[in-house]
Amino acid sequence: CHIDWDISAAEKGGYQHFMAKEIMEQPKAVRDTISPRIQDGKIVLDNITLTAEQIKGFSKIFILACGSAYHVGMVAKYILEKFARIPVEVDVASEFRYRHPIIDDKVLVLVISQSGETADTLAALREAKKLGARTLSIVNVVGSSIANDSDDVIYTWAGPEIAVATTKAYSTQLAVIYLLAIYFADLLGNLSKEDYAYYVSQLQELPDKIAEILSNKEHIQFLASQFFNVKDVFFIGRNLDYAMSLEGSLKLKEISYIHSDAYAAGELKHGTISLVEDGTLVVALATQNKLFDKMMSNVKEVKARGAVVLGLTTEKNTKIEQEADHTLYIPEMCEMMLPSLAVVPLQLFAYYVASMKGCDIDKPRNLAKSVTVE
Ligand code: G6P
Repeated sequence: CHIDWDISAAEKGGYQHFMAKEIMEQPKAVRDTISPRIQDGKIVLDNITLTAEQIKGFSKIFILACGSAYHVGMVAKYILEKFARIPVEVDVASEFRYRHPIIDDKVLVLVISQSGETADTLAALREAKKLGARTLSIVNVVGSSIANDSDDVIYTWAGPEIAVATTKAYSTQLAVIYLLAIYFADLLGNLSKEDYAYYVSQLQELPDKIAEILSNKEHIQFLASQFFNVKDVFFIGRNLDYAMSLEGSLKLKEISYIHSDAYAAGELKHGTISLVEDGTLVVALATQNKLFDKMMSNVKEVKARGAVVLGLTTEKNTKIEQEADHTLYIPEMCEMMLPSLAVVPLQLFAYYVASMKGCDIDKPRNLAKSVTVE
């Protein structure tokens, strides 16, 4: 008897693409990243040698990264500033070196990279070290150059990521940001005992909430079937929703080749709204309660210009249906962690759209998994 083994199909674990497999692996990847770092209700961060005194002395956190890792940095700014109350600056690594950055030994440079080998990120890390910064990296590949060159490293336990478009690495990087933010806030005395316990328990619930979204894919698939032919998509949101929408937009454009951009919703009226016309798809993220009404005003503005609106919010905000043409709901949890949930339906939306267009999902044209040239 002769059996033909299709190695590639076997590696995809029954999925058509690595990207689908990796999207589905997110609950496990996030759990593997979080669980070993929570012991008896306390966050324990590997062999981090940073002392409470050093953390207290930081005047700034500078986040450096490229691509989706940079988008994690954009979300991280909101989270770290809220929890640690330390100013955070985020820069794309390829820009950082060429603008005379203001760095000294009171600056913590946080480098985020899946591969640990991105040339621009590595060069930025080395520059920051030369200028005297303390460096901490969040890396997926053990023993990579960025991990080796940093003073401290926290690994994301996402496992190997094959699809060029990252999914589980993004989610695990964000999970580390939450760990770090709560850890810093605690050392700095910014959290009551009750709040600390609350945020830690919310973090522990994250993998199950992601799994809940992944068990309801059909509606997202239906929405993809409605929109896979569109030419332009705008993602809008405010604060955390804006920061996360950068990644939602990137996922769509990189694998489906549909033009898409993310904008801070309040900024639309200063230019971008002139691009909205009949049938333009606007994905409106409205997970933050304080900003919900403001987002609904923006939805009305784009609808008045003919946009079709896909709204994304949490389960209790059903009033979004009064304004949006279609709705995606994510489970409730503390607002700071909602980007970790909201990104998942957007990854799936991009995946299904690209699949319906027949794109080469795991290897999009012109893109590489790891860019080792500057
Ligand atoms: C490439 C990949 C992106 C990734 C970026 C940074 O452009 O296609 O998915 O976000 O590099 O990679 P890194 O390995 O540093 O996270």
